[in-house]
Amino acid sequence: MGTIQIENMSYKYDQMVDNLFDSLNLQIDESWKLGLIGRNGRGKTTLMKILLGQLPYQGKIVSNLNFYYYPQKVVNKNKSTTEVIKELTDLEEYDFWKIEVELEKLKVKNDILSQTFSTLSPGEQTKILLAILFIDDYGFQLIDEPTNHLDIDGRQVVADYLKSKQGFIVISHDKTFLNEVIDHVISINRQNVDIYKGNFDVWEREKNLQDQSQFDEKRQLKKDISRLHETAVKRENWSNQSEKQKNKTGLQKVNLDKGFITHKAAKMMKKAKTVSKRVDEEIEKKQSLLKNIEIEEPIQLNYHELNHPKTLIKVDNLELIHEDVRTPKTSFKVPVDQVVSLIGKNGIGKTTIFKQLLGIEQPFEQTGDILIAKGIKISYLAQEDQLVGNIRQLAQDKKIDPEMVFSNLRKLGFERNLFEQNIESMSQGQKRKVALAISLSQEANLYFWDEPLNYLDVITRQQIIEAIKKQHPTMLLIDHDKDLIDEISDQKIILEN
Ligand SMILES: Nc1ncnc2c1ncn2[C@@H]1O[C@H](COP(=O)(O)OP(=O)(O)OP(=O)(O)O)[C@@H](O)[C@H]1O
Ligand SMILES: [Mg+2]
Repeated sequence: MGTIQIENMSYKYDQMVDNLFDSLNLQIDESWKLGLIGRNGRGKTTLMKILLGQLPYQGKIVSNLNFYYYPQKVVNKNKSTTEVIKELTDLEEYDFWKIEVELEKLKVKNDILSQTFSTLSPGEQTKILLAILFIDDYGFQLIDEPTNHLDIDGRQVVADYLKSKQGFIVISHDKTFLNEVIDHVISINRQNVDIYKGNFDVWEREKNLQDQSQFDEKRQLKKDISRLHETAVKRENWSNQSEKQKNKTGLQKVNLDKGFITHKAAKMMKKAKTVSKRVDEEIEKKQSLLKNIEIEEPIQLNYHELNHPKTLIKVDNLELIHEDVRTPKTSFKVPVDQVVSLIGKNGIGKTTIFKQLLGIEQPFEQTGDILIAKGIKISYLAQEDQLVGNIRQLAQDKKIDPEMVFSNLRKLGFERNLFEQNIESMSQGQKRKVALAISLSQEANLYFWDEPLNYLDVITRQQIIEAIKKQHPTMLLIDHDKDLIDEISDQKIILEN
């Protein structure tokens, strides 16, 4: 069985002070189904790009596999799907059966091959791009967050598909998905990188045990350290004193004494040095372990509850129609302090309904009624935001105190040195956190959150769930994450044709 060997690999981006990876050593079996996890910005995507040979790392990576990356860049989405596949694979028409075999496993109908790529639903686009990765039998797939934008059924299909494959690394923050798919975990921690055998739950259990024992150790360690320090100081004093004694008496006394003291002092000095070295090593070892504990601080929405009116949104028999797209007829109310979730398959029209409620211009014809309370403050977290520039400017443009945004970003695990970085060169999750921190900081009576959890790491997801459970804001929500929906929704509005 072949392996991928990463030896002494180091890498940092130009503007970084510290290495992102520092003398990393990993050995990966080519048959493993690996989940690559770690908080946003730890370097998951970067590690994949390094394996692909796209970044100038130091050290050695040994492997004879062909690496393939998802998501590929589709240069022109306005071509037929067949054309897009040809461009990405160099596949000849007579070899298209290979793609068709994979598409069948992904439950995608062949007739979408002739459709324009941009008109496919996000779920279908994901599946096409995934199928492409698996036509080479000697391939090792590097799959970067395939579940974003996939609905619940889509996630299941992709999970089943990957489960049937061998030899790949998948990045995802979706626990349910990872648990079904993977048999090994690579975890990028604060201080090091680990490999575990097992799925996400196994990793989480071991990590929790480790964290707990480290907390316990911390208490014991403090005691040990101070005891070791005391001993070391005592010994050092003793040997120093003996040395002084030697110098004082050296001139008059016989050599025997001097020799004896010197010998004893030297021995003690040596012992003291050994102890102090041991203390230093011990402290360093334990402290680096403690630094691997992830910190989860509570976050807060800048939510202002309204006493009046009691209902902020009323939708009656709403239907939006444009060409052959038609959203299902919908009616619902959003009362104050309730979280109302819109649930439905990819492409059913959830975001379209959001935008119509927000009064964003769209080419849709509307039937039915929308009533939104007048003069209320709304905070809108869009599904995809193309944020550019720097955070301070962005906050000021939206009339939000930048310090509040920074404070929220700190709580979301953002390193301070990122505050001045251009948003364009941030990781996917870091970009999402900027958008989220702005929405958290904005004064609001009502939230429109469209897939807030996309790209966010597990800890951030938990922070969001807990904040919403605690504050109970008025919110209209779209998401495909079952944990989130089940934990925080007061009402679920199911959209189906
Ligand atoms: N082109 C770039 N120039 C400078 N810094 C970069 C660049 N790309 C990424 N970074 C930084 O490198 C770090 C790692 O980024 P990377 O995209 O690998 O993280 P990630 O683990 O994939 O995060 P996420 O979960 O958010 O996708 C981040 O701090 C990011 O800001
Ligand atoms: Mg990434």
